[in-house]
Amino acid sequence: MKFFVDTAIIKDIRELNDYGLLDGVTTNPSLIAKSGRDFKEVIAEICGEVTGPVSAEVAALDYDGMVAEGDHLAKIADNVVIKLPLTLDGIKACRYFTLKGIKTNVTLCFSANQALLAAKAGATYISPFIGRLDDLNIDGMELIAEIRQIYDNFDFKTEVLAASIRTANHVKEAALAGADVATIPPGVIKGLAKHVLTDKGLDQFAKDWASTGQSIL
Ligand code: E4P
Repeated sequence: MKFFVDTAIIKDIRELNDYGLLDGVTTNPSLIAKSGRDFKEVIAEICGEVTGPVSAEVAALDYDGMVAEGDHLAKIADNVVIKLPLTLDGIKACRYFTLKGIKTNVTLCFSANQALLAAKAGATYISPFIGRLDDLNIDGMELIAEIRQIYDNFDFKTEVLAASIRTANHVKEAALAGADVATIPPGVIKGLAKHVLTDKGLDQFAKDWASTGQSIL
């Protein structure tokens, strides 16, 4: 499963990229607002940091506006992916960018039928939001499994990008359900390495090693 980081903070992107853990980056208007930076400037900077896909979301709600903004964003760098909302206008814009050979990420997906529309429009990625469904006591992971099955039934090439991931358990469950990608907040990615028994084991090994009085170098 590929890992995208869900952030517009360059420092975090750089750190995770240095660990070799990053396959791409996703942003959204809320993350851009949180960064406090100019949207196009920050997207250009992220595209300079990573070679993988970088999702940049349109702000327009109508087809013409999405096309104009998406065409503009696509010029920033070759690895920009145009992120479009899952509305009828967004689906139409997705078809437009697909025919132009520009990658798309259809976002704010909350049902299998919505994911079916995105695949029919040729979306590169579909982003089902797990955490926001869980917030409503609806099993977000079930949606990932449904989309996986539908895409496999019809051999759709659209990649399932598990989004709105909040916990390490979400990452594991998304991987088990067959998501192609997970877009994950930086803290959750780093948390995947943590285990209390790893820390305990390291403490013991460090003590025992010190007691030998040896050095490796
Ligand atoms: C995905 O593309 C979105 O940017 C993101 O995963 C939304 O996560 P949230 O529901 O935690 O805001």
